[in-house]
Amino acid sequence: MKTVHTIADLRSAVRQWRRADDSVALIPTMGALHDGHLSLVTLGRVLCDRTVATIFVNPAQFGENEDLDAYPSNLTRDTELLTASGADLLFAPAPAEIYPDGFSTTISVGGVSGGLCGAARPGHFDGVATVVTKLLLQSLPDKAIFGEKDYQQLQVIRRLAADLDIPVEIIDGPTVREADGLALSSRNAYLSEAERRIAPVLYRTLNEAVRDIAGSPADVERICRDARRSLIEAGFAAVDYFELRDAETLAPMAAFDRPARLFAAAHLGKARLIDNLAL
Ligand code: PAJ
Repeated sequence: MKTVHTIADLRSAVRQWRRADDSVALIPTMGALHDGHLSLVTLGRVLCDRTVATIFVNPAQFGENEDLDAYPSNLTRDTELLTASGADLLFAPAPAEIYPDGFSTTISVGGVSGGLCGAARPGHFDGVATVVTKLLLQSLPDKAIFGEKDYQQLQVIRRLAADLDIPVEIIDGPTVREADGLALSSRNAYLSEAERRIAPVLYRTLNEAVRDIAGSPADVERICRDARRSLIEAGFAAVDYFELRDAETLAPMAAFDRPARLFAAAHLGKARLIDNLAL
């Protein structure tokens, strides 16, 4: 696997593949890679001839009091993992390559960016949408692959690609979990041993709520309220949300006439854990 740090080198590598008629998959990440990220690389290799992974800890998507400075990073290990996964190219730009002096444009996606993490982390999805738009335009892949673990992000990216006529197919990969159900996340590294034992309660509570809602759809509000309470009782410090939403628009659901999804975000020690399940 080759590593490049500039947009020019990225474009030149993709151009060579295009000449050979090879299709290209893009897998954007912020590094500190785990099996969830690597599953997306594997999916990219199944779907396309060439895969490009990107590693860029995007300052624009972190709030002022968030963990930009603490975000885990290990480029040597990530490079080994990507090589072993069979990625063809790693694009690892410096911040000034993505946001040079004078950079003044923000992509802001309406609708799906509101609520859930958009409400809990103001400006977060503008940062995500801006960097993902840039990465898509820099590499112009056939397919770009994102995890369902960050389901709202996935819907924001689907929307921006459609709205801006970016000629790319957005593909989703299923959430990869630890044996006890905890969704893999670079931020799980923040958990102490004791917190790590509590963390899978988030997934367990989502599962129980899905089962309860399926059995008693009229009681959604009470079920979500009870779920928030049991997370606090289990040791979570705060629950940002535990809510049922329309799986496509992410709007609150008035009736069960469309696919739904249950979303949760909760704080445990220094980590903020998110997860979601289809209904
Ligand atoms: P990051 O958190 O590094 O995640 C990169 C990709 O891996 C995202 O598409 C995310 O949904 C996916 N992912 C994370 N955990 C996963 C898991 N357990 N199973 C499957 N997929 C998983 O998401 C970002 O980075 C950034 O916001 C980014 C899109 C790169 C823009 O900066």
